[in-house]
Amino acid sequence: MSIPTIKWIKGKIRFIDQTRLPLELRYIYCKDINTLYEAIKTMKIRGAPALGIAAAFGVVLGVENSKAKNFKDFMKQLNRVIKYLGSSRPTAVNLFSALERMRETVRQSQKLPVKKIKNILLKEAIKIFEQDRVMCRRLSQYGSRLIKNKDKILTICNAGALATSDYGTALGVIFRAKEEGKNIKVYASETRPLLQGARLTTWELKRENIDVTLICDNMAASLMKQRRIDKIFVGADRIASNGDTANKIGTYSLAVLAKYHNIPFYVVAPSSSFDLNLSDGEKIPIEQRDQKEVLEILGKRIAAKGIKAYNPAFDVTVHNLISAIITEFGIIRPPYKTNIKKKFKLV
Ligand code: MRU
Repeated sequence: MSIPTIKWIKGKIRFIDQTRLPLELRYIYCKDINTLYEAIKTMKIRGAPALGIAAAFGVVLGVENSKAKNFKDFMKQLNRVIKYLGSSRPTAVNLFSALERMRETVRQSQKLPVKKIKNILLKEAIKIFEQDRVMCRRLSQYGSRLIKNKDKILTICNAGALATSDYGTALGVIFRAKEEGKNIKVYASETRPLLQGARLTTWELKRENIDVTLICDNMAASLMKQRRIDKIFVGADRIASNGDTANKIGTYSLAVLAKYHNIPFYVVAPSSSFDLNLSDGEKIPIEQRDQKEVLEILGKRIAAKGIKAYNPAFDVTVHNLISAIITEFGIIRPPYKTNIKKKFKLV
C-alpha cells in the first residue's frame, strides 16, 4: 500500500512533512493558506503532481471564510489567493494548471450563490486528486512494459507516492513491475542539495521491499560504464510541446551520460505535467533556491564562510536525449512534436 501523501480531511489538508523523512513520519494538518504556502516553499510538500493537488486544496482554504456578497467580490478574492499560491514555486506546471482549473470552475459557476461555489470548488479539488491517482496507476502500467526481469534501473530525486497523490510516476513504474513479479534492482541517486533520493526514494522503495542501492550523484557515470545500469526512469516537473523536460537538477547530466553509454532514458509523467503552450524547454522557468541549501547539509555548514553557491532546483533535458515519455495515454516516442500532439488528440 503506498503512503497517502496528501488528503483532504474534514476541512483540513493533511500532508506528510517530507523534510522530516526518513527519520520521522509526521503529518501536518493545515487549515490556512499561509501555512500551506510555507510548506510548499520549504518543501514539506513537494513533487509536481502533489504541488498541483496542494494548490487546489489551498484555493478551497483560501476562500472558505470569504464574506463576499456577490460574484465579483468573490472572484477578486479568488484571484488574490491564486496569485499568492502561484508565487510559491515556479517550475512545476501542475501547480499552475490546477490553479487555473480552480479559477475556471468558479467562472463556470457565476450564476450560483457564493456558498454553492465554495462546495463546487472543493469537489473540483477532490477531482484533481482522484484523477492524479488514476493517471499514476495507468502510466505505471504502460511504463512497466519497458522493464524486463532482472533490469537494473537508475532514478533521481523522488517521483514516488510522496510526489503525487499516490503510487507515483517513475517509481510507480517500478512498483508496478515488482507487482508483476519482475525481479529488479534500483539505484537511487542521492540528489543534492536536498537529498530527495537518499531521504525519500530509498525509503519508499524499501517499504515495498524493492532492492535499492543509494549512490552519490557523481557515481552514475562510473556505474553506467560498468554496464550496471540497464534503464533510467525519471519524473518531470514540466514538459514542453517538443518533449524538452524540466526535472530535478542533475537529470540532464544523467540523460547525457545515458546517450553516451547507449542506455534508454525514460521520462514518466501524467498529462498534467505537460505545458503545451511552450514550444521548447528554453522557456521553462527554473526555480533558483537559497544558497544555504548547497552551503549546508541538513542544517550543518560545509563550506567556509564567505563562499557563494549556485542553486537551480531544476534543469532541462533536451528531447533528443529522451528515449520515450510515458503518460497515462501510453508511451510517446520521437518525433515528440508530432506524437505529443497525437496523444493529446490535438491533431
Ligand atoms: O524540488 P522537488 O522535490 O519538488 O522536485 C521534484 C522532482 O523533480 C520530481 O522528480 C518531479 O516533480 C517528478 S514528481 C512525480
